[in-house]
Amino acid sequence: MASSTSSLLFKLTAFTLCFWVLFGTTSGQLSANFYAKTCPNFRSVITRAVNSAVSSEARMGASLLRLHFHDCFVNGCDGSVLLDDNSTFTGEKTAGPNSGSIRGFNVIDTIKTQLESQCPGVVSCADILAAAARDAVVALSGPSWGAVFGRRDSTTASLSAANSNLPGPGSSLSGLISSFSNKGFTANEMIALSGSHSIGQARCTVFRNRLYNDNNINASFAATLQPNCPTSGGDNNLSPLDLASPTTFDNKYYNNLISQSGLLHSDQELFNGGSADAQVRTYASNQATFFRDFGNAMVKMGNLSPLTGSSGQVRTNCRKVN
Ligand code: HEM
Repeated sequence: MASSTSSLLFKLTAFTLCFWVLFGTTSGQLSANFYAKTCPNFRSVITRAVNSAVSSEARMGASLLRLHFHDCFVNGCDGSVLLDDNSTFTGEKTAGPNSGSIRGFNVIDTIKTQLESQCPGVVSCADILAAAARDAVVALSGPSWGAVFGRRDSTTASLSAANSNLPGPGSSLSGLISSFSNKGFTANEMIALSGSHSIGQARCTVFRNRLYNDNNINASFAATLQPNCPTSGGDNNLSPLDLASPTTFDNKYYNNLISQSGLLHSDQELFNGGSADAQVRTYASNQATFFRDFGNAMVKMGNLSPLTGSSGQVRTNCRKVN
């Protein structure tokens, strides 16, 4: 009896240990405490810099969130989006989805400089992007999530992968579903991640067609935006992706979709009589559910093909290979 109890106890302990090792603070090969010994203050350095950047300009929070997305969807979360062109490759910054709109590089440079002076060669640029994205969402009143670290940086970047892997503003619902499913995401996760458009801005050139040619657009919403985005000219004029609360991360984005006031054609595709409508209604009426699903999907996004172990490198300057 005593021996069967102790064998059961042994099995239970072994199971708990395995469970903890697999699911406790790790996610894939990344972990929450990756820099605990090598750069214990890295979180506070990043949080301070992000808070300061967001308090100078709220939109910067959105720009930092987008940088992490555009990093992860192009050959994994490897800091490739940060690389400038060099003699061996043309980087991702001039790809269609990035050119003229991707921003936040100076904030990442500032963080990197501070971290290099505290713990030289330790914290990767890809991890800075992941931490900054979470801090940015929190700074704009959004949810936090269990970010994990240990990514390393790529030694190359891909203009063509950036052009083909990032979804465009003219996408249909099925196009959106398939571009996220190519990265392992469900349609519901895509709908949750699209809630990122609760913050930030877009250029007239990416929503002009919607203002003048879409028929599922609220007439007074279109009329409000048209003066700043005429049929020709003003390509770089900006409008908030969420006119209802442009600098607060919340679920108003989904309510906008229900009233046909999504800014991008691709946004409104999520509520256009199709299979995504029910999920949009759920998020529109329940912010806590949106926050929970968004956080889980961000953890999953941050796990897209990271370089770990001895792959890649920790760049000392995020814009250049060492
Ligand atoms: C669902 C497919 C998506 C499409 C088609 C899309 C497209 C776009 C476009 C066209 C812009 C404006 C760019 C410009 O002005 O040229 C934009 C901005 C933005 N996107 Fe997305 N996006 C998508 C998903 C996401 C996801 C998953 C995230 C984050 C996890 C994200 C975060 C943002 C943010 C925060 C901005 C505003 C950036 C700023 O103000 O600097 N987007 N997106």
